[in-house]
Amino acid sequence: MKIALLLALGLAFAGCARGSHATAAAAASAAAAKNVASASDGAVVYLANCSSCHQADGEGLPGAFPPLSGNPLVTGSPVAVIAIVENGIEGRVAVGGAAYSGIMPRWKGVLSDAQIAGVVTYIRSAWKNRAPGVSASDVAGLK
Ligand code: HEC
Repeated sequence: MKIALLLALGLAFAGCARGSHATAAAAASAAAAKNVASASDGAVVYLANCSSCHQADGEGLPGAFPPLSGNPLVTGSPVAVIAIVENGIEGRVAVGGAAYSGIMPRWKGVLSDAQIAGVVTYIRSAWKNRAPGVSASDVAGLK
């Protein structure tokens, strides 16, 4: 009886491993291992804290606030984006041929690691952007 049950389980598992279940399960466990923050949680953080300057559509305001949509810095190295959001930035930056020299406030201590991970995931995947998200441990790892 026990042996039959084990055999059945074994067969079911083997069947699953050959099929698409295995791929889906592997993808799900890879995402869980990395714990990428949810872009929809990040959208809430963005609308509350960032959209007044960078605008809800991520296009910024010419001459004052740089666009985040279609901005290669935002979709480039996740470490650089996290560092800017955590520490803020000021001085001259050039985005899409336009120069900005404003002050971007620092968010470390204002937003939690999870909120920073969410908002970075959001800005990397919203609008024209299609870059992979980050996790709260990526944010914590930079401190
Ligand atoms: C008070 C206005 C303001 C707010 C609020 C603000 N930013 Fe900014 N942000 C700026 C300015 C101004 C710059 C450009 C800084 C410079 O000119 O040196 C900038 C730059 C950036 C950059 C770098 C862009 C580049 O190409 O160099 C990123 C990324 C960014 N902001 C993300 C965010 C996120 C995410 C939030 C919300 C958590 C946010 N910002 C909130 C004003 C703001």
